[in-house]
Amino acid sequence: MKTTGGTDDQKRRAGERAAELVADGDVVGLGSGSTAAYAIRAIGRATADGLTVRGIPTSFDSRRLARESGIPICSLGEVDGVDVAIDGADRIDADHHLIKGGGAAHAREKVVDAAADRFVVVADPSKTVETLSHPVPVEVLPEAYAAVERDVEDLGGGATLRRGEAKDGPVVTDNGNLVLDCAFGRIDDPRGLARRLSGVPGVVEHGLFVDLADTVYVGTDDGVERLE
Ligand code: 5RP
Repeated sequence: MKTTGGTDDQKRRAGERAAELVADGDVVGLGSGSTAAYAIRAIGRATADGLTVRGIPTSFDSRRLARESGIPICSLGEVDGVDVAIDGADRIDADHHLIKGGGAAHAREKVVDAAADRFVVVADPSKTVETLSHPVPVEVLPEAYAAVERDVEDLGGGATLRRGEAKDGPVVTDNGNLVLDCAFGRIDDPRGLARRLSGVPGVVEHGLFVDLADTVYVGTDDGVERLE
C-alpha cells in the first residue's frame, strides 16, 4: 500500500486511536491508504478479541486488508446505515475540508464516508494546511477524459492524466475509470469548486470532500491531536 508524507509511527497512532471509537455491533466504513490501514488492522485485532463489527471497504486494497485482518465484510446496500467511517486524507484545511484520492479510491470513499453517522479522518501532520492548494484528483469516464481536461481548464485549472509508476499506462480505478490530477493553485472557495467539478459531464467523482469530516485525528511523534 502506498505510503506518503509523515512517519509510519504518526500514521499508526492516528489509525489506532480512531479504531478505539468502534463499538460492538457497529457497521464501519474502512478507508483506503496507509493510515487507514492501521485502523483496519487494529479493528481486526479487536474482532479477534470478540468485538462484533461489519466492515464496508472503500477500495480493493482495503477489502483485501479487511479480509486478511478477519473483519466480516458487507456492502452499503446490505445495511441500514454506517455508524462510523475511518479514512485518510491527502490534505486537510483549517475548516476540515479535505482533498482525497491519492490512492484513486475517492469515489467509493466519498460514498461510504458521506453515509457514515460519524466520519473520522486519520492523518499525519504533513497533511494539515491552512488553505487547500494540492491538485484535486478527479475520476473520469475514459471516453470523457479529454473533454473533462478542457472543462477543467475553463474552470482555471490544469489537468494531468495520472499514470502508473512505470509510466507506461494510465492509472485505472477500481471502477474502471481514469484519474485527472487537477491543479487550481490556492483553493479559496472549496464549496464552489466542488460544485462546479460535480457539474462537469464525464466526472464520476472528485476528491474534494467538503463539509464531510466530523473529527480529525493527527498522529504526532508523541501522541494524537484531535481536531473537532
Ligand atoms: C486514497 C486516499 C487516501 O486516504 C489518502 O491518499 C491518504 O493516504 P495515506 O494515509 O497513505 O497518506 O484518499 O484515495
